[in-house]
Amino acid sequence: MNGFDPTPLGERTEAMIESLASISAEPDRLVRLYLTPEHKQAADLVAEWMRRVGLAVRMDAAATIHGLLPAGKDGPRSSRRLLVGSHIDTVIDAGKYDGPLGVIAGIIAVEELRARGIRLPFGLEILAFGDEEGARYPKTLIGSSTVAGALEPTTLELTDARGETVRNALLRFGCDPAAIPAEAYKRADVVGYLEVHIEQGPLLERWDEPLGSVTAIAAQSRHRVRITGEAGHAGTVPMAFRHDALAAAAEFIAMVEEVAGDNLVMTVGEISVSPGAVNVIPGSAVLSLDVRASSDEVRALAVESVRGRSRQIGARRGVVIGVETVHEKPVARCAPRLRGTIGAAIAGLTGRKPPELMSGAGHDGLAMAHLTDIGMIFVRCRAGISHNPLEHVTVADLGYAVEALIRTIVEIAREEDHA
Ligand code: GLV
Ligand code: MN
Ligand code: MN
Repeated sequence: MNGFDPTPLGERTEAMIESLASISAEPDRLVRLYLTPEHKQAADLVAEWMRRVGLAVRMDAAATIHGLLPAGKDGPRSSRRLLVGSHIDTVIDAGKYDGPLGVIAGIIAVEELRARGIRLPFGLEILAFGDEEGARYPKTLIGSSTVAGALEPTTLELTDARGETVRNALLRFGCDPAAIPAEAYKRADVVGYLEVHIEQGPLLERWDEPLGSVTAIAAQSRHRVRITGEAGHAGTVPMAFRHDALAAAAEFIAMVEEVAGDNLVMTVGEISVSPGAVNVIPGSAVLSLDVRASSDEVRALAVESVRGRSRQIGARRGVVIGVETVHEKPVARCAPRLRGTIGAAIAGLTGRKPPELMSGAGHDGLAMAHLTDIGMIFVRCRAGISHNPLEHVTVADLGYAVEALIRTIVEIAREEDHA
């Protein structure tokens, strides 16, 4: 592909991915949740890597690690920053590329820019966010929303499964939650936000393309569904007299599958049942519902439809089904100017116009779009598998991804120089 050998950059990236992947709460699978000791260890390692490539490092009030390379040239834009980032938290039993790749790509890009003697007319800041997955708290994107000035204050009072609030976990981590509002960046100080991320879907592999440029990140919402029925004796209450919360939950899940459709996916990924005994009719159930759609209208209509059909299920079964919204983000469109620059950078590597694709997965860019223009580079992953330990990216594709990021940064600098 156009004479560029991706292997050396890819091998460096892979070695760093492996180092981060060894930091886990569990010996046999990768689990690294926000504000846990494992997050701390990963943040320390990332901070160390950032220092090693010459970045000025700090941790902010939401536990995001920032590494800043000041502008290499004086000029009207030298106080502005181009932001490059992704996340270092994981889902439970995660793959090792989802998140860390974007952070590591940024760090290696800095190292390469310096080694190649390239001086930028703006600062370059690498961000390692701590909460993109939302696997610990009901809300997600806490780090990126803080930088974007879009964190709802009520987020601090949310609790994890053990009842610990975000506020308390931040304090134990060494962060000052009261300082969160002051962390918000100003739009005028930022050039844009770039993120490299694995595709987490099968399209690039199907198209035989290592990289793609993202058009938009899907609208998403998360909901907590509470079903209240009536607990009772499993041996004595006739079937027709029951208000079984778990049976209602089963019908709810099947209904959700029916409402989902083109450009609309919905998932129930968590369920807990109370009291949870073999000889007791379930009295209540709590479920999660995750909704993604290609447009805000489609998503909102789907949630309306789920609510309406829940009322019907509830009325028929004599249970109450409440669908509460705990997280909601509209579609985030990638900026045409950055899509163009990313497309040109990838084309320079592959010799072809790269594919453009939508992201069904959520990313820190969803929050960063509140602040600035966003652009994303997607990287092919094996069989489209992600959120799974089988997640895999070849060394060559890692190398292409990092080089595409470097070339995108260089091109943005060239455009700024001529602006
Ligand atoms: C994060 O990976 C999400 O899309 O939920
Ligand atoms: Mn991710
Ligand atoms: Mn993920």
